Amino acid sequence: MGGTAILTVSDLSKRFGGVRALDGVSFEIREGELAGLIGPNGSGKTTAFNLITGVFKPTAGTITFRGTRVDGNPPDRNAALGMSRTFQNIRLFRDLPVIDNVMVGLHMRHGTGFWPTVLRLPVARRSEAEIRRRALEKLEMLGLAARAEQIVGSLPYGDQRKVEFARALATEPSLLLLDEPTAGMNPQETADLGRTIQRLHRELKITTLLVEHDMKMVMGICERLIVVNQGRMLASGAPAEIKADPSVIEAYLGRRRKDGHAAA
Ligand SMILES: Nc1ncnc2c1ncn2[C@@H]1O[C@H](COP(=O)(O)OP(=O)(O)OP(=O)(O)O)[C@@H](O)[C@H]1O
Ligand SMILES: [Mg+2]
Repeated sequence: MGGTAILTVSDLSKRFGGVRALDGVSFEIREGELAGLIGPNGSGKTTAFNLITGVFKPTAGTITFRGTRVDGNPPDRNAALGMSRTFQNIRLFRDLPVIDNVMVGLHMRHGTGFWPTVLRLPVARRSEAEIRRRALEKLEMLGLAARAEQIVGSLPYGDQRKVEFARALATEPSLLLLDEPTAGMNPQETADLGRTIQRLHRELKITTLLVEHDMKMVMGICERLIVVNQGRMLASGAPAEIKADPSVIEAYLGRRRKDGHAAA
């Protein structure tokens, strides 16, 4: 298999009151890979992202990122160490232009902060040109450069999702965590964003962990999949192995019987 681990999650658990959102999960993400984290609804995928990025502290277990323990770190610390993420629900400043939304990510990373950026204080102006250049570059990669000055809330939904992606890329992270970037997209938009994720992964060589419900897309672009179910590790391996794994099939089929939705 090979490859150095950039992220190691060991025996990670998170309880919310009586809910065991994660229960002893362990996995590694290797430098440079495009991996997928999949599992039925409520299986703990977003919780894993929240623990890795520092939104929540684990109840138990450790997280090592680029050789140092990061569990319990606040999110800004982990961002400064090179983590970047997108959220399951769009979190953009709807009334600001596209470019500002992407630049905010960069100012955060460089410690300028949100308010100085929006209020255009001198501290924010210092590196303004450089930050703008880098933000525009990412928008260009996503085919959105022409929309840079438009108010983000006026863009089609699929493009808003791409702006979030651009914002996450703008910090030039060493680990990119994408939480259902295609949520709410139609199959055409989903396939298109899947190709974009794959292309940018190749071009920028950013280690990426993708949470995604669209099996066709995630199986098509990921080199390796990690499967969780009800807070526990179920399987990990190449897409072909995962597709044929009886425990994975059972987890998804069991789910389908319960709530009537086909997950695959
Ligand atoms: N902040 C919270 N407080 C209480 N319970 C939570 C919290 N966050 C998550 N949970 C619970 O933890 C479990 C795992 O949720 P999580 O959001 O991590 O699942 P998921 O795999 O991301 O699901 P989905 O595919 O629907 O996004 C669920 O039972 C959920 O209700
Ligand atoms: Mg989730």
